[in-house]
Amino acid sequence: MIDAGEQSAAGVKQCCALFYGSDAARALFGESFHPGGVALTLELGEMLGLTADSVVLDVASGRGVSAFGLAERFGCRVTGVDLSEGNVTEANAESKRRGLEARVDFQVADAERLPFTSESFDIIVCECAFCTFPDKAAAASEFARVLKPKGRVGLSDLTRVAEPLPELDGLLAWIACIGDAQPLENYAAWLTDAGFSISSSASRHACLHDLVASIRGKLFTAEILIGLKKLELPGLDIEQAKRFAKVAAQAVHDRKLGYAVLVGERRSA
Ligand SMILES: C[S@@+](CC[C@H](N)C(=O)[O-])C[C@H]1O[C@@H](n2cnc3c(N)ncnc32)[C@H](O)[C@@H]1O
Repeated sequence: MIDAGEQSAAGVKQCCALFYGSDAARALFGESFHPGGVALTLELGEMLGLTADSVVLDVASGRGVSAFGLAERFGCRVTGVDLSEGNVTEANAESKRRGLEARVDFQVADAERLPFTSESFDIIVCECAFCTFPDKAAAASEFARVLKPKGRVGLSDLTRVAEPLPELDGLLAWIACIGDAQPLENYAAWLTDAGFSISSSASRHACLHDLVASIRGKLFTAEILIGLKKLELPGLDIEQAKRFAKVAAQAVHDRKLGYAVLVGERRSA
C-alpha cells in the first residue's frame, strides 16, 4: 500500500478525485458518497436553516446528489465545486435532466482555492470531504472568505479518536476519508480559527456503521461478479479493499471511527 506521507498534497487530492470519479466508487457507494446519504444532507440543511432565498455552495459536491436534494427540498440555489472533472460533467448533465440548471450548477475547483469573490454565499455544505483536504486551514479560511457575514457552514465528516490508528494508514485510508479524519474538536478548531462560531454538533455514528456494512456486502457481491466475468472494476484491488473494510468495520464498532455533523456561523469582521 502506498504511504500517504510519501505523496504530495496535490497527488493525494488527484487520487481522491480520480477514485470518486470512478465506476468503482459508484459501485461501492451508490450516487451519494457519504454516510447517511441524502437523508443526512437534508437534516444538515434543516440545521443550517436553509430557505428558498439561500445561495448555497456545496464544496466537494461529488456527483451532485446532495445539491439536487437541497435544491428540491428547500428551493434554494446551489453551486457545487469538485476536483473531479468527470463528476462535474455528470452532475451538470443530471441538473439539466432534472430541469434544475437555472438553480443548480457545478464547476471544477479546489476547496483550498475557491474561484469566487468574497461574500458570495449564504451557506456552505461540505460532506465527507473536509477530512481529505491536505490544507484544512486554507479550506476553512476560504469558506469564511466566500461566505457573507453571519453565513453558515455545515460539515459532515469522519471523526476518529486522537491516538494513531496505524492499521488504517496509507493512501487507501486517505481516499476512504479515514487517513486524515480528525477528532470533532479539531474540525471545530479549524473553523473557529478561520472566523466561525460553532453553533451545534452531533454524532451520527450509526450512519457510518451502516455505510461500512453496506460496502462490505457490495465488495462480497463484486468479487463474485468479477469472478464470473460479469463485472469489471479496473483499478480496484478487491482483496485489499475487503481487508481494509474489515479493519474499518472493527474500528467503527470500537468507536475509534465515527461520523458527525457540525454547524458554524461566520463571525462579523
Ligand atoms: C467522499 S466524496 C464526497 C462527495 C459528496 N460531498 C457526497 O457526499 O456525495 C469526496 C469528494 O471530494 C472531492 N475532492 C477531494 N479533494 C477536493 C478538493 N481539494 N477540492 C474539491 N473537491 C475535492 C472528490 O473529488 C470527491 O468527489
